[in-house]
Amino acid sequence: MYNHRLLTRRHALWLGLATVAGMSACAKGKSIKQDQQVQVVGKSERDFTVTGETSLKERAAAKGLIYGASGRYRDLSSNSDLADHYTQECAILVPGNDLKWSTLRPSPDRFDFTKGDWLANFAHTHGMLFRGHTLVWNQGLPKWFQETVNKQNAEHILVEHIQKVARHYAGQMHSWDVVNEAVYPKHQRSDSLRRSPWLKFLGSDYIDLAFRAAAEADPQTILVYNDVRMNTDTEDGEATRIAILKLLERLKSRGTPVHALGMQAHLWAKDQAPLNPRKIRAFVGDVADLGLKIMVTELDVKDQHLPKDTNVRDRIVAGAYEDYLSAVLDEPAVISVITWGLSDPYSWRAKPQFGGDRKDGTPVRPLPLDAQMKRKLAWNAIARALDNAPKR
Ligand code: G3I
Repeated sequence: MYNHRLLTRRHALWLGLATVAGMSACAKGKSIKQDQQVQVVGKSERDFTVTGETSLKERAAAKGLIYGASGRYRDLSSNSDLADHYTQECAILVPGNDLKWSTLRPSPDRFDFTKGDWLANFAHTHGMLFRGHTLVWNQGLPKWFQETVNKQNAEHILVEHIQKVARHYAGQMHSWDVVNEAVYPKHQRSDSLRRSPWLKFLGSDYIDLAFRAAAEADPQTILVYNDVRMNTDTEDGEATRIAILKLLERLKSRGTPVHALGMQAHLWAKDQAPLNPRKIRAFVGDVADLGLKIMVTELDVKDQHLPKDTNVRDRIVAGAYEDYLSAVLDEPAVISVITWGLSDPYSWRAKPQFGGDRKDGTPVRPLPLDAQMKRKLAWNAIARALDNAPKR
């Protein structure tokens, strides 16, 4: 399933600690199924104490890591309190939507960089890095796309988009999500690729084409393959991890300029989509063995299914944050932790089309800061994982 990796001393130690944790959880009466490290989350004795008030970006920087968050033009340009908390906590900013085709390209021959430029300026003015999301995806497409793009013009339209956008921001970007979510085992292709318009019109080579166009347009930026659903201890999670590794191996074998894997990490807490820290640790190690960096790019924890009591709910969410980050940050090739938003009300998960408020009518609480910009246990959990991460 995974390449047999020479266990580094730290990795072997980590595995030992994880086993000890599992045993101690057993000792506390929580059964650990064989080979499934069920998280010990939500237990009242699990504390999330943090030393000092230092920001997440400073705690990350102390370990050679980058912490940041996604943000939107319409929120950051209209809410100075929110903007102040981004500058306080974040060393990198990624537009959640404002660099997608739907925003950048209102018509086939017109580009609108207004919002992206405002965000780039906001980031650079406040000493933040800036990253792009995303040059190629099957979502976030403008209304004209479906009736305009076809087999004959798809390559021209794709390359033109990448060149125009990546050249516009050349030299300003820490990294670009060049291709997003190209793997989807449930579509049952032999290569496990997603049946998207790009695949339909251009075949699987669209991925190589996109990375080569991006590298030509902005040779200075880190080019990232970004994907989702690779963190769960489920059949789909396993198939996704294997398919992503195979895709990355194929790209590398062809000399395609891919530099990093982006792990979105939209986590569920507890038993809804269990994590297996041991498998996640092994997976990021296998990606690193390909000579790639790894970025955690869209981290948040879904709480719609968790108890109403925010004391209990926040603890379970914090446990998921700390368990996940403790596993991945043990890998030195992991260079960033980016949450998909910073403050709860601005989360995509608060929007009706993405679940919105919970069935009990209470607002979702997936992010490090609450609606009043107060640090939550999720903030503590990220801070603890950063403080305990090995220095890069
Ligand atoms: O801005 C328009 C508004 O003018 C219009 O009235 C409204 C009508 O529906 O739509 C608004 O655009 C919405 C946009 O978010 C801005 O809020 C789109 O409909 C909506 O589809 C879009 O959703 C975004 C989604 O990606 C699709 O692009 C979410 O905010 C965003 O958080 C989500 O982020 C994705 C990452 O890009 C990839 N990984 C998964 C992640 C979560 O789905």
